[in-house]
Amino acid sequence: INKKFLIGFTVWSLAIGHQYSSLGTQPILCGSIPGLVPKQLRFCRNYVEIMPSVAEGVKIGIQECQHQFRGRRWNCTTVNDSLAIFGPVLDKATRESAFVHAIASAGVAFAVTRSCAEGSATICGCDTRHKGPPGEGWKWGGCSEDVEFGSMVSREFADARENRPDARSAMNRHNNEAGRTSIIEHMHLKCKCHGLSGSCEVKTCWWSQPDFRVIGDYLKDKYDSASEMVVEKHRESRGWVETLRPKYNFFKAPTERDLVYYENSPNFCEPNPETGSFGTRDRICNVTSHGIDGCDLLCCGRGHNTRTEKRKEKCHCIFHWCCYVSCQECIRIYDVHTCK
Ligand SMILES: *[C@@H]1O[C@H](CO)[C@@H](O)[C@H](O)[C@H]1NC(C)=O
Ligand SMILES: *[C@@H]1O[C@H](CO)[C@@H](O)[C@H](O)[C@H]1NC(C)=O
Ligand SMILES: *[C@@H]1O[C@H](CO)[C@@H](O)[C@H](O)[C@H]1NC(C)=O
Repeated sequence: INKKFLIGFTVWSLAIGHQYSSLGTQPILCGSIPGLVPKQLRFCRNYVEIMPSVAEGVKIGIQECQHQFRGRRWNCTTVNDSLAIFGPVLDKATRESAFVHAIASAGVAFAVTRSCAEGSATICGCDTRHKGPPGEGWKWGGCSEDVEFGSMVSREFADARENRPDARSAMNRHNNEAGRTSIIEHMHLKCKCHGLSGSCEVKTCWWSQPDFRVIGDYLKDKYDSASEMVVEKHRESRGWVETLRPKYNFFKAPTERDLVYYENSPNFCEPNPETGSFGTRDRICNVTSHGIDGCDLLCCGRGHNTRTEKRKEKCHCIFHWCCYVSCQECIRIYDVHTCK
């Protein structure tokens, strides 16, 4: 198998991203997006209205990944290669691959759901099905976000390539689904008060998605506690099929909400084009932290350099009655530590 084929998810995502940004307000031409499999092409044509949200979803997923991993050896760097935006890092079935798949699928479900609720497409809208009876002191109102539609779009598109009977496909499907499930699990009621001068005589509520940061924090926890699996081969009527089984029997088996992987990560200390590691030389480290962002761990024991940097900052701010603030500009000197 062509290795790039394994990272189908990111292939299409970037393809659409480029397509969308280069075309601006022009319609998306599904046929000109490179790397789509027939199922995705059909899907793109049927749902062309929401393709910009799909691209937006991948983008917010990547941004959240970069936020969650900002101080770590692997910091979710993307490279400028239209066929594999993360470089070869995702070729292996590691925790990092698991996280990227989960957060990108979650991002797509999230962005599509949000844009449907905002009324930006004719094929989707608010969720009118799962309302249930009104609660004490409130009634349904506003637009409940239809996370099932958003998840369906994410599933149809992101999982379209993951239909091989091999272990990597099984892993990607599992982690993609875990990402989408995290959104469904964090749906909550949002309410608004109506009444004279802010009184809450009438309260209307609707289902809302959480902030995407909540999803990022949650999936980062799942990354930290991801389950290591081993690959098993079975003979079935359609031929050999690979499935995943927990490596350690004494740990709780992963649920559909957990992330799974079956290959160990490189340590990302030194640059290595084969594993997609950039190394940590010249990365900024935190000299007072004992965590992974601290100079000891981030620099992999190579030590660090220190330089001073002058930064302009607002200072001596005064509040004037009423109502503005005036400030002076000061130069502050900072120590900046970077890995050797
Ligand atoms: C992430 O890592 C890359 C490669 O080491 C580095 O160039 C980049 O500045 C880092 N980004 C952040 C936000 O630290
Ligand atoms: C990245 O790719 C885009 C589009 O292919 C290109 O316009 C841009 O110059 C590239 N940037 C770098 C730093 O290579
Ligand atoms: C560095 O680490 C310390 C201790 O963990 C933390 O309090 C501080 O905010 C960190 N500084 C930066 C710039 O992240």
